[in-house]
Amino acid sequence: MTDILTSSHPEANWWRQAAVYQIYPRSFSDANGDGLGDLPGVTARMGYLSALGIDAIWLSPFYPSALADGGYDVDDYRSVDPRLGSLDDFDAMVAAAHAVNIRVIVDVVPNHSSNRHAWFQEALVSAPGSPARARYHFHDGRGDDGELPPSDWPSHFGGAAWTRVVEAAGPNAGRPGQWYLHLFATEQPDWNWDHPEVREDFHTTLRFWAGRGVDGFRVDVAHALVKDMSMPLRSKPKLEILVDDGTDALFDRDAVHTVFEGWRQVMNEYDPPRIAVAEAWVPFTNRRLKYARPTELGQAFNFDLLQAPFKAAEFRSVVQKCLAEADVSGASSTWVFSNHDVVRHPSRYALPDGSTAKELEAWLLADGATPPTDLERGLRRARAATLFMLGLPGSAYLYQGEELGLFEVADLPHEALTDPTWFRTNHLVKGRDGCRVPLPWDDAEPNNGFGGTPWLPQPAWFAGKAVSAQDGVPGSTLELYRSALDWRRKLQGEETLEWLSEPTDIVTHYRRPNGWEVITNFGGATALLPSGVDLATVVLASSGEPAPAGHVIPGETTFWLAP
Ligand code: GLC
Repeated sequence: MTDILTSSHPEANWWRQAAVYQIYPRSFSDANGDGLGDLPGVTARMGYLSALGIDAIWLSPFYPSALADGGYDVDDYRSVDPRLGSLDDFDAMVAAAHAVNIRVIVDVVPNHSSNRHAWFQEALVSAPGSPARARYHFHDGRGDDGELPPSDWPSHFGGAAWTRVVEAAGPNAGRPGQWYLHLFATEQPDWNWDHPEVREDFHTTLRFWAGRGVDGFRVDVAHALVKDMSMPLRSKPKLEILVDDGTDALFDRDAVHTVFEGWRQVMNEYDPPRIAVAEAWVPFTNRRLKYARPTELGQAFNFDLLQAPFKAAEFRSVVQKCLAEADVSGASSTWVFSNHDVVRHPSRYALPDGSTAKELEAWLLADGATPPTDLERGLRRARAATLFMLGLPGSAYLYQGEELGLFEVADLPHEALTDPTWFRTNHLVKGRDGCRVPLPWDDAEPNNGFGGTPWLPQPAWFAGKAVSAQDGVPGSTLELYRSALDWRRKLQGEETLEWLSEPTDIVTHYRRPNGWEVITNFGGATALLPSGVDLATVVLASSGEPAPAGHVIPGETTFWLAP
């Protein structure tokens, strides 16, 4: 059996410093004109992806789903949503990707299935206490008549984490009966990971996709699978980690690691071993790195940079922490600014400095009208932050559309919104639709070349951000990403960095072992370059413009210096 660290396969380490591009399939490219992006749409854009210079694509779920949560409610883990294509289309997509040396990562959603999954349907028609119910978390309610949910747990999307069913079988048939647990939407019942059939079925799923040539997996809500459901259930009025030592009732429990050790055995059946990256929103402690150990998934997302304010000292300290974490785990670090769950980073950086997560949410709810944003500045900062990040050792996870400098669409018509958060909070929290609007490819075509009428409407300003409007245009965000990814490939070396110059609140400066240097000015005003820096070696500036004369770096700008 091979191992991710010791495999002698020549390409076993492809993931360690990969640039991974996240595709949200329904919003990427629509080949059949039904308004929903699809797998043939991805295949058709492989030339674009290859020219962009990425190493892998990660596809958010494309499985059969009623889309109660954008596909994270999976009906069948080993099939393709017919609206998005077929398994043949999937195979064709993988072949097209591999032909241009792009690896493929798929999303695995192990915390919950959808309520349309065959096993949940079986549980619904089975009596309380039956084996079919044991694969999920069905419990009697509290109160005289079981009319109260088994615990006070809220769901992540608002409302309670429990839904009561009307029994179909047993002595109470036809009457309200047990409750089932769903940490997310009602349509997403949580699996019972203590059940051997559940464990085995996910091994089957991993083998199914790995056998079709998939190179890796992104593991949804990895920290939540194993739960302490012993009675009485512990109180948790907020879905947060209450005790950060592996004994919390719901999150980051020690026993979850046995699950992933089992996955590692399965992924090591292949050569090169398959890789996986955990989505584990656990606080920064030495616990998060466990998911990333070579005996488990191999990598875990670090969202610290995504959450950090645009400040030199904060960015620097996040990088130091994450690299130290990677050293201990044996994984490579990961870096993310945007994904399908968060407000796009050029918009985040356009809000007034010091805006909190609550204020960001209020801004979205106000359809982006207040407080006023400075979009030009937001994009300038985003480009500088991206070049700061792409120079770092480790994997860079990019989200579709960020290479176009897309902003959040904060003012989608309310009737178009689909995020369960919007509905489950009675329209108090907007949710994530604004970063999921279908991409603009060609401003000369209907729907900006996406395909049919997009399932979420594109705003008028999307035309100006289309690929066609940026392709070959010096200084455009698209050309900046292309050059950056190209230079990154050429300059990438050992997985370490050295900080240069004295730490200041304004400027960071680091060097990779092969002499590649990255200098970022986080301040709004022009700053003096560190002494000893030779301006003639600047190969890329996040402004997209040549470095100005004088020994200076403009505000909110990153320079890359080649040896
Ligand atoms: C993850 C996904 C998110 C989804 C949730 C439930 O956080 O990234 O989109 O809603 O899990 O599956």
